[in-house]
Amino acid sequence: MLKLPGLIDPHVHLREPGATHKEDYDSGTSAALAGGFTIVLAMPNTKPPIFDSATLDLALNAAKQKARCDFGQYIGAGPYNADIAASLAGTAAGLKMYLDSTFGELRLDDMTLWMPHFQKYSKDYPLVAHSESRTMAAAILFAAIYDRPVHIAHISLKEEVLLIKAAKEKGIKVTCEVCPHHLFLSKDDIPSISHGHPGRGEVRPRLAMKEDVAALWENMDVIDCFATDHAPHTIEEKDSDNPPPGFPGLETALPLLLTAVGDGRLTIDDIMMKSYTNPQKIFNLPEQPETWVEVDENEAYEIKASEQFTRCGWTPFEGWKVKGRVRKVVLRGQTAFEDGKVLAKAGYGRNVRER
Ligand code: NCD
Ligand code: ZN
Repeated sequence: MLKLPGLIDPHVHLREPGATHKEDYDSGTSAALAGGFTIVLAMPNTKPPIFDSATLDLALNAAKQKARCDFGQYIGAGPYNADIAASLAGTAAGLKMYLDSTFGELRLDDMTLWMPHFQKYSKDYPLVAHSESRTMAAAILFAAIYDRPVHIAHISLKEEVLLIKAAKEKGIKVTCEVCPHHLFLSKDDIPSISHGHPGRGEVRPRLAMKEDVAALWENMDVIDCFATDHAPHTIEEKDSDNPPPGFPGLETALPLLLTAVGDGRLTIDDIMMKSYTNPQKIFNLPEQPETWVEVDENEAYEIKASEQFTRCGWTPFEGWKVKGRVRKVVLRGQTAFEDGKVLAKAGYGRNVRER
């Protein structure tokens, strides 16, 4: 039996408010516990988007009643809310800036709209950028100019990891995360994920070339965090004529990473650093006392959507053979998950920003 700390996922979409048929704070935090996560940070591209005090309260009130593991809720950077967002820095998980195309309404194209956010948001709390390729280069330049940390969400390209490496060598305060799906899948896998429904392969950032995937593995030391970007959309939505981008990931991340450990491609220490130590530091998160995860390292099994807690009903990893099963999660002294059952009650989860 392997014992891990409660893992942290700094990037999930729990769809509350507004799209609880895909997921909500209850089903999403149940999926988190089943995946070995005891803290999840939820993104603000909901309906309505989380961009001020009233909408933040909407999400936090739902979380307070429903969450089964600990949580934080991001606020989104909009064109006119830099002062309000900055004033909520102690309450929100962090500021999320959508600088490239995404699912939902939050998007900042003009760089003059980025400036007040970089200036005003507290340097003690994370500013997370969805920025791909050259937009990412611009976000890193902003971090240098405003001398503040920026965390780049879900990197997927060779050029991205190499530029982040170079920026770190210059002392720029940039950190980054990578998602399991960008480590274990490339464009070439789209047909096998799709089962005849091309929408199932849609995700942002898109699955990349094999060379990009190889570059992420080769530069594993540049990557600060693993993050799932758990982005549940129902199977009906994925298979429709207008499929939204996104993959669920909370329940498959740890088994995939542990399988890579078994294959000699990662170490347990990589998982500890990138799913616990680094996110705790980068996102300024509290210790969770008496909290741990017990994993049966040797149990081999097949990933099945039908056994998941997420409401979306599918996974791009259906049928994958993995090794390493979460047996038990203890959260703040209470058994929160054991042998396939979520035992933590709805409402047991705490806001990581409430001290
Ligand atoms: C995300 C979603 O569905 O909310 N989709 C995705 O493909 N990652 C949006 C996002 O994070 O950009
Ligand atoms: Zn996302």
